[in-house]
Amino acid sequence: MAIPHPIDWTADGAVRILDQTLLPDAERYLDLDTVDAVAEAIRTLRVRGAPLIGIAAAMGLTLAIRRGPGSPEAVCAASRLLGATRPTAVNLHWALARMERRAAVAAEGGDDLAQALRQEADAIWDEDRAMCARIGAAGAALIGSDALVLTHCNAGALATGGIGTALAPVYTLHQAGRRVAVVADETRPLLQGSRLTAWELTRAGVPVTVITDNMAASRLRRGDLTCVIVGADRIAANGDVANKIGTYGLALAARAHGVPFYVAAPTSTVDPATHDGSAIPIEERAAAEVAGWRGQPVVPPEATVWNPAFDVTPAELVTAIITDRGVFAPRDVARTE
Ligand code: MRU
Repeated sequence: MAIPHPIDWTADGAVRILDQTLLPDAERYLDLDTVDAVAEAIRTLRVRGAPLIGIAAAMGLTLAIRRGPGSPEAVCAASRLLGATRPTAVNLHWALARMERRAAVAAEGGDDLAQALRQEADAIWDEDRAMCARIGAAGAALIGSDALVLTHCNAGALATGGIGTALAPVYTLHQAGRRVAVVADETRPLLQGSRLTAWELTRAGVPVTVITDNMAASRLRRGDLTCVIVGADRIAANGDVANKIGTYGLALAARAHGVPFYVAAPTSTVDPATHDGSAIPIEERAAAEVAGWRGQPVVPPEATVWNPAFDVTPAELVTAIITDRGVFAPRDVARTE
């Protein structure tokens, strides 16, 4: 099964990313050797998906002290820069806080700061890979074979350090030789579903059908879908879920048609400090993302545009949350510690 690797170290310690803005037309890798370059890559969605931006930020933080002895203060300044790139995905802030703690402990103990940060970034990546695998096993057991799964955006290998979250059960079933296929929402405005989800699934040999977002309700009504599985950028303590804009509408349509609506996420996406979805910061992105596509206008310039990148699905619309620690009712997910 050919699973893409969206991130890596270069031999001399820079961060290599697959530029996801160019997919599916071109598979181009960029070597980033400054914190600024990593911040730009996260901001512009060259590297994206909640777990992957946490990993990228952790790896990027090592660049703050790459050309010198560095200090915990330099690490904190770089962390602030990276933390300001995208507000919704809690994994970003979780990973950076972990790196800052590790820097402080290394400084206190007189350890080599560069080595300590590299080890912590690797640990964050390794743990994410393992969490994806466990989400895959738990989700596969839940949905069984002969499954047709509707998904939104991209919560696959391109969004994580492993086999994905929403797509992890799909890959796990496929690898075990069970029948599984995916219906992928295109996911306006940046087309993560058609450009990225369909790209990685076809490479892995998983059958995938792309629909535009406004076809999802009709497809749910048709009655051939086993379930919906989506990822998450942040899960509040009460089980409300922030994910790519359009997830909420999909959850409403799934409820109306009696189709199970699952959220798949690692425990690093659960934010016990956020009481409910109303407290989750929702990123608003540039109007140009809606008003044009690769340089071509699709909206008259006189019109205004609203472009929230995420929405919040209330816990009551979520059938269950599939995590690396098992499957939970939304209200119980913050008690998985
Ligand atoms: O704006 P993006 O492409 O970073 O949004 C990604 C999503 O909404 C994903 O569903 C989410 O981050 C989970 S990725 C495992």
